[in-house]
Amino acid sequence: MSIKIGLFGFGCVGQGLYDVLSKTSGIKAEIIKICVKDKNKQRSIDSSNFTFDKNELLYDDSIDVIVELIDSADEAFEIVSTALKNGKAVVTANKKMLAEHFEELYILQQENKVPLLYEASVCASIPIIRTLEEYYDNDLWIR
Ligand SMILES: NC(=O)c1ccc[n+]([C@@H]2O[C@H](COP(=O)([O-])OP(=O)(O)OC[C@H]3O[C@@H](n4cnc5c(N)ncnc54)[C@H](OP(=O)(O)O)[C@@H]3O)[C@@H](O)[C@H]2O)c1
Repeated sequence: MSIKIGLFGFGCVGQGLYDVLSKTSGIKAEIIKICVKDKNKQRSIDSSNFTFDKNELLYDDSIDVIVELIDSADEAFEIVSTALKNGKAVVTANKKMLAEHFEELYILQQENKVPLLYEASVCASIPIIRTLEEYYDNDLWIR
């Protein structure tokens, strides 16, 4: 079984993810649809891969994971909150959105029992969050 991804954004990072998934064998994940903004922009892949309607991804029951890689923090917050409320796992690289809305997103994640992964938003994916979680979670806090 492969993970079904709904991708937001096809810029530097979004297209990079698409290329990696297309060229790497053995990854059990496929991009079902890509939501972008500019209807007039030339794309490097067939137009059938794209939509301009965010709801096509957010309300598609076949999509397990929303990967949010757009350049607007406000629009990203709308997308990510709706995805979490709809029970979809979310991966985001959006630093500004997380900095401004982390608490609300953390609560939504807890309420809806879905993962919100944001390693890519921290130092361009240097594995800092995972390192903290895996190696320091047993450390006692001294008050
Ligand atoms: N670039 C990096 O090295 C890097 C590293 C770590 C994190 N990040 C973060 O990753 C995110 C993406 O960065 P990027 O460099 O890939 O940006 P980018 O090259 O400017 O691409 C942004 C993409 O977002 C799409 N977009 C904007 N608003 C949208 C909306 N409302 N709905 C759907 N699509 C929308 C754009 O659509 P169009 O194609 O139609 O214009 C474009 O494809 C940002 O949050 C950035 O801070 C970037």
